[in-house]
Amino acid sequence: MLQPSETAKSPSQGQKIDTLTVTDNRTGKLYEIPIENDTIKATDLRQIKVQPEDFGMMTYDPAFMNTAACKSKITFIDGDKGILRYRGYPIEQLAEKCTYLEVAYLLIHGELPTKAELEEWTKNITTHTFVHESMKKFMDGFHYDAHPMGMFVSSVAALSTFYPSAKKIDDPSERMLTVYRLIGKVPTLAAFAARHSAGMPYIHPDNDLNYAANFLNMMFRIAEPKYTPNPVLAHALDVLFILHADHEQNCSASAMRNVGSSRVDPYSAMAAAAAALYGPLHGGANEEVLRMLDEIGSKDKIPGFIKDVKDGKRRLMGFGHRVYKNFDPRASIIKKLADQVFEVTGRNPKLDIALELERIALADDYFIKRKLYPNVDFYSGLIYQALRFPVDMFPVLFAIGRTSGWLAQWQELLQDPEQKIARPRQIYTGPKRRDYVPFEKR
Ligand code: CMC
Repeated sequence: MLQPSETAKSPSQGQKIDTLTVTDNRTGKLYEIPIENDTIKATDLRQIKVQPEDFGMMTYDPAFMNTAACKSKITFIDGDKGILRYRGYPIEQLAEKCTYLEVAYLLIHGELPTKAELEEWTKNITTHTFVHESMKKFMDGFHYDAHPMGMFVSSVAALSTFYPSAKKIDDPSERMLTVYRLIGKVPTLAAFAARHSAGMPYIHPDNDLNYAANFLNMMFRIAEPKYTPNPVLAHALDVLFILHADHEQNCSASAMRNVGSSRVDPYSAMAAAAAALYGPLHGGANEEVLRMLDEIGSKDKIPGFIKDVKDGKRRLMGFGHRVYKNFDPRASIIKKLADQVFEVTGRNPKLDIALELERIALADDYFIKRKLYPNVDFYSGLIYQALRFPVDMFPVLFAIGRTSGWLAQWQELLQDPEQKIARPRQIYTGPKRRDYVPFEKR
């Protein structure tokens, strides 16, 4: 941090100085603040004071519209250009060429695995797909119509009681064990939640099947001695897991980092992340899109619906994004994937409503002016529904894919020497000190 001065250096012609000069017009003082990565440190503003005893200047940024809370090597997004990369690799290439577990390895370790590394990684995750039998009793305790995402959030939190050694978060081997356990077990917990809602017996993992196929087995097997899902459908689900695997500092990843920064065990931190994902503005949006398409019901109702959106009466779910001000690249991949799925399952009739909704919205000034485009949730639900998932399972499916990203963010947080417990400041706007008033005088 540089000291306040009466004069700040002004660059002579052609010379570039990586500092920001701030004049405090209250005092006339000039401050020169270093710029790194087009960013200034918020704490560098604290030197700006009127009186020496002042707290110093802060930044005010509700909803973190313009605040970087960490340095990260995991995911890159350019929202204006519609670019998404994991560890430098474009999402389009990963979705086309990788399996979900390969991408999960990339997110956690930073590099694509060799064949031998992938085999070892897959073995480690596959041998952690089973959950303790007591977990079934825990699931049984939920009401018959409990939302599967509520069950999922609670059962992830409950895992911390089964694995108390996960509290040793500074031990890399304990951390990796948690990574195997969480990536391995989330499909099992998700399927148990769905089976409980449906009043169906729980199905144990089948470790001969790949990650997505085993999940379909646990979801849908009835009396078959061996469940073999259609490979096109299992592949589509695997791609959807890849597309949802990470998305840098979104609401749930930030929750994972915030809660994890208290050094709580990773199961508790991930339960918080999953709870953040549950909200309709985040991972709950895919469920809301399907409910919206059901409610619209037919193409002739679309103009009336769009009018309600423009009048501010409701939101067009699955549209808009804090970061993307262009097409969400995940939505474009999902649209193509939908064609492959519908070839097997038959066309989801809601697709026509969705396509028409998209066409009308993209040509409408309201959406053009605000740069609102379809996001990942707009079309994913149509595929999930074609795969026979109940609508309330949609956010849970998002959570399965996102688990690897949450864990990568958590690992990075723990290894970052610049991080501490997350603790934002506030601008207090409440009453000044006042004295207690007894009941009879209020
Ligand atoms: N429908 C109608 N208007 C919208 C929508 C929408 N879906 N999204 C944004 N707007 C309007 C909003 O009313 C505002 O208009 P004005 O400037 O006149 O007040 C303007 O666009 C900017 O919106 P915002 O709410 O300030 O933007 P944000 O960055 O805070 O919100 C968002 C981003 C994703 C929460 C929002 O676009 C939204 O609510 N979308 C619908 C829910 C959804 O699909 N969520 C999934 C996000 S992608 C998956 C994930 O990563 O979770």
